[in-house]
Amino acid sequence: PIVRLEDYRPSDFLIDRVELDVRLHPTQTRIVATLAIRPNPEGRPDAPLVLDGDELNLNSVALDGRVLTGEEFEASPHALTIAQPPRQPFTLTVETEVNPTANTKLMGLYRSSGNYCTQCEAEGFRRITYFLDRPDVLSVYTTRIEAERDEVPVLLGNGNLVESGAADDPNRHYAVWRDPYPKPSYLFALVGGRLGRVAKAFKTMSGREVELAIYVEPGKEDRAGYALDALERSMRWDERVFGREYDLDVFNIVAVSDFNMGAMENKGLNIFNDKYVLASPETATDMDYAHIEAIIAHEYFHNWTGNRVTCRDWFQLCLKEGLTVFRDQEFSSDERSRPVHRIAEVKTLRARQFLEDSSPLAHPVRPTQYREINNFYTATVYEKGAEIVRMLKTIIGADAFRRGMDLYFERCDGTAATVEDFLNAFADVTGRDLSHFARWYEQAGTPRVSVKGHYDEAARTYRLDFAQSTPPTPGQSTKQPMAIPVALGLVSHDGSPLSAACDRVDERGVFLFDKASDTITFAEVSPKPVPSLFRGFSAPVKVSLDLPNEELLVLLRHDTDAFNRWQAAQTVAMRLLVALSTGGSVADAEADAFSAALCSFMGSDAFTDPAFAALVITLPSEADIAQEIGKDVDPDAIHRARSAMRRRIGAGCSQHLRRFYESLADSGPYSPDAASAGRRALRNASLDLLAAADPAEGEALATAQFDSASNMTDRLASLGVLTTLPGQAREDALARFGERYRNEPLVLDKWFTLQAAIPEDETLERVKTLMQHPAFSMANPNRVRSLIGSFAMLNQVQFNRADGAGYRFLASIVLRADELNPQLAARLLTAFSTWRMMENTRRGQAEEALRSIAQKPNLSRDVGDIVSRSLDAG
Ligand code: ARG
Ligand code: ZN
Repeated sequence: PIVRLEDYRPSDFLIDRVELDVRLHPTQTRIVATLAIRPNPEGRPDAPLVLDGDELNLNSVALDGRVLTGEEFEASPHALTIAQPPRQPFTLTVETEVNPTANTKLMGLYRSSGNYCTQCEAEGFRRITYFLDRPDVLSVYTTRIEAERDEVPVLLGNGNLVESGAADDPNRHYAVWRDPYPKPSYLFALVGGRLGRVAKAFKTMSGREVELAIYVEPGKEDRAGYALDALERSMRWDERVFGREYDLDVFNIVAVSDFNMGAMENKGLNIFNDKYVLASPETATDMDYAHIEAIIAHEYFHNWTGNRVTCRDWFQLCLKEGLTVFRDQEFSSDERSRPVHRIAEVKTLRARQFLEDSSPLAHPVRPTQYREINNFYTATVYEKGAEIVRMLKTIIGADAFRRGMDLYFERCDGTAATVEDFLNAFADVTGRDLSHFARWYEQAGTPRVSVKGHYDEAARTYRLDFAQSTPPTPGQSTKQPMAIPVALGLVSHDGSPLSAACDRVDERGVFLFDKASDTITFAEVSPKPVPSLFRGFSAPVKVSLDLPNEELLVLLRHDTDAFNRWQAAQTVAMRLLVALSTGGSVADAEADAFSAALCSFMGSDAFTDPAFAALVITLPSEADIAQEIGKDVDPDAIHRARSAMRRRIGAGCSQHLRRFYESLADSGPYSPDAASAGRRALRNASLDLLAAADPAEGEALATAQFDSASNMTDRLASLGVLTTLPGQAREDALARFGERYRNEPLVLDKWFTLQAAIPEDETLERVKTLMQHPAFSMANPNRVRSLIGSFAMLNQVQFNRADGAGYRFLASIVLRADELNPQLAARLLTAFSTWRMMENTRRGQAEEALRSIAQKPNLSRDVGDIVSRSLDAG
């Protein structure tokens, strides 16, 4: 069945209060739910009561205390129906039983390393009890959890702890948690287990005392410190920047090792994939630290954008996710380097969201229909959703943006809201009509903007001609122009200041381009400038700019906008790489000019911001190049082209690279701060280029670094360089790494990933062998994604083998995974989303593999949906 936005209607019943009584048991957990239900005045007056269920066993139902007979209700594993419920408030008591140990879908109540935990978003609560499992039904929850004291010493729920003690059976104990804030069922959580704890007191800006605590596997407490620190900084930041304060007496985070996604913002009880909590210098890289900081912040920020203001229906998912990603990106930008973080965001956006937008899975930020909502937790909803919020801020300005947010919270607190509610707040504080801007939520696909510049020397004017179009996407064959904020400026060839006036550009340097084509003219410009467009990546569009390489390289040297300095280098690199990959000719002079520009960049200011320099000297990835080429892609040609370019830069700039390598060596104890991480990033990027140019030197340097590294960042980076150099040194290093970390699953994940990404024919066999490794398990999403997901997503040449073996392998794994965990299987399957842009042979092989999946009987809805959309469109 397909769910459609236009079919939304309010629930016929509301549930004001929920009392849950949960007796934890490994295979027979019993749940008694007592629901205070009443007819919704906005619902249909004589509707039946239909509660959602999923794989539930019903023990009994009582209405206002009277046990119902079989004729008075109808129950199946997926629904509980009462045809003629009372037309005034009543109490329904439902007893169900579930088996957490057998729950391999990791939705509802399940066990991870023996501990009990829950995941209810989007539709997991119905796997615990029958319920109106939809986000516009808000209830106050009280949860009593009871378990064996020895087996489950820690009992956690949403809200505040109100009572705990010994149960009637002296071997058992219980805890009662109460969450006073009405919430939808997807924010429900409970945890029971044997867990270690780190904690810290926090006082909010208005003086509320809050106990912050992080629960982890016993013995790993010393790895939770960074997450706890990030939580405290997030809370301070939300107070300072958005005026938002925490609202309960405790804030608990639990790290679990089996988790489908990154983390979950359950009210007062966030549950995390342990890879986004646990960190020590010995086990985590700089990137891991940055991700932990961002995800801790993301889940905490949901307390206001998601929980206090929730979503009316799942079509509004971007209302909480896009906005919350925007907030976590702003937090990371404030805590770290804003331009460096912006470049990282845009790299992810292009690699994942632009890719999705150009694939058969393209969909609007607010989709209008779905078969399986879990398939819409996508880069489009999250990442493009965040870009929309950022564009809104760019267009109306920071002050109006903050006033709009305040109004949004004031109006919508305690409600289940829509994208319209969000936009109305900004329309009302600014008096602007945002209806055209709203198209960003509706129209899928990445807009293409082409810009031509004309300088009139006699008139001293500079004119920019803009044109936009958006390619068709599934279900949307024709497109309207978008409202695109273009942050821009003019740069002189020698870096001297340049003044120019244009009344179409606002005081913040932004031109709002909202027609199919438009022209703006700057007066009093002399001499001829170079335009710097989409500064800070002011809109999620693809730009084609009619500027020769040498003028772009002026931007690398002189632009005041760091993002565009980086972008200029990337654009030139991309032009050369595309030409090289598609059999076009690249004059040596052109490639040399690029290499020379990078050398001069390295010689000038690389040391002032090493993190930025590391980004500038890193070429676009093979996947980026494939996406840019867009059709008849030959991954082998791309791999050869990129390797050749790395060699050229490594050789051409070797003196600078050696200087970086030597002078940036770590001194003193490891610190994950952004500046230290930036120095490591530049040093390791230098090593990669040096190794490309001179494999023998690279192997010697990388082996020495591998042997002496004092932290995981440097150890893993050197191992990564070694994986690009076939030979015994690489195999020895891999073997030693695997042995050293054999009891550290999160570290072995990195080891799986590096090996799965080796661009050699033997890799598929290597991956199959690694599946036999004692640490590997098809039941653990982190393991599967690290080994198999990395092979499919990172290893362009081997996943896309011309003989189709990579595709057939992934198809077989998807089918196996689907029997255990459909969400995980569906995610893996999205690796096929690029299949249509491959050259003929590969395209045929991929299609055959997709069809072999589609033909299988009993596919999950998750996999069935992705496979049919992947094959349909086009
Ligand atoms: N709301 C969570 C987050 O963004 C994601 C949970 C999604 N889970 C799922 N099974 N669809 O932080
Ligand atoms: Zn989120």
